[in-house]
Amino acid sequence: MFDVEKIRKDFPILSSRMNGKPLVFLDSAASSQKPQRVIDAFEDYYRCRNANIHRGAYRLSYEATDMYDKTRSRLARFIGASDPATVIFTRNTTESLNLVAQSWGMANLRAGDEIILTELEHHSNLVPWFMIAERTGAVIKYLPLTQDGRLALEQLEPLISKRTRLMSVAHMSNALGTIHDIAAIRQVTRAHGVLLCVDGAQGASHLPVKVEELGVDFYALSAHKMLGPTGVGALYGRRELLESMPPFLGGGDMILYVTRDGFVPAGLPEKFEAGTPNIAGVVAFHNAMDYLEQVGLETIHEHEQNLVKAAVNKLREIPGVLLYGTEEWDWRGGIVSFNIEGVHQHDVGSILDEEGIAVRAGHHCCEPFMRSRELSGTVRASFYLYNTMAEIDQLVLGIQRVKEVFKSVARR
Ligand code: ALA
Repeated sequence: MFDVEKIRKDFPILSSRMNGKPLVFLDSAASSQKPQRVIDAFEDYYRCRNANIHRGAYRLSYEATDMYDKTRSRLARFIGASDPATVIFTRNTTESLNLVAQSWGMANLRAGDEIILTELEHHSNLVPWFMIAERTGAVIKYLPLTQDGRLALEQLEPLISKRTRLMSVAHMSNALGTIHDIAAIRQVTRAHGVLLCVDGAQGASHLPVKVEELGVDFYALSAHKMLGPTGVGALYGRRELLESMPPFLGGGDMILYVTRDGFVPAGLPEKFEAGTPNIAGVVAFHNAMDYLEQVGLETIHEHEQNLVKAAVNKLREIPGVLLYGTEEWDWRGGIVSFNIEGVHQHDVGSILDEEGIAVRAGHHCCEPFMRSRELSGTVRASFYLYNTMAEIDQLVLGIQRVKEVFKSVARR
């Protein structure tokens, strides 16, 4: 049975105070909190197991290598990839997307080829494509959005031409919480031989994801949004694609051999993992996935949907609160983006902070979307498995406090 109070006890930081008030942490879309078992695994690695992988001729190094490789297999199972070698460890989702854009893009894009994105993408799913478009002469096209921030999917097919090579889209928007229908997008892109790359930073952390069932070509994710440490990300790619792509970074571990004249790259996955990785982070990530699976991604998603519905319904009752995002609940994850009329979002964030409530305020690295709606930004409350209905009530009280403060400023 899902017991949020029991879950909260596993996260030491949640019983702390911020500005003298009990912490209400509503910023998991930026980075999730960590359960004790992840913190323990990280510490245990450095205390008792630290050695470099794939290099040492001694037991400690073999064991570290084994733990690292086991986490790769764990992650492959977690995201429904049958072959662990198709899962590449990176630093974060951003690096994973840069890997695809640079490596696949340099090898495959020619002047006039097209890439489809959406205006709702995070900068990390825009800028790498801008960079490769500049180098290759490829052209960026945008799939339009509906008024409530969903994708206008009926406009996807007409947007595709003979020159369209790839579409890259988030699984769930970090700015609005919209969940995109990846299966429906896949159907259209596949029919036209267009590759599909998914930014899963907010996807794999909150939704059950099975990459092979979904039929995506690339899927990028970050451990720190999934209860794991910072500095660890991953890229899933279809084997034929990864095999045909040149290495992204060069250095140790990614080679079969090196001569004076050049090198021959290693096979998958090492080809894309140059240099010493974040071994402790990868090892601790194993525990984060165990924790998430023990609770169940379906259960987590359902809990977050209950929170988001309650939050939207309560915030709607407050005069002057402007809410953004779809209310088609099946397509909405645990994120509420809003503004308070006449108050800058950074002021809302600061007053909520004084009340112990942690939210993100600003453009959320989604400037093109904010510009398209003539917004300077929004306040964003984002939920995870450890958030409670009582915290939604705290948020409502916090917003009322913001309004009181601004009313008294206006009176002066
Ligand atoms: N992508 C993270 C966020 O949305 C940092 O806050």
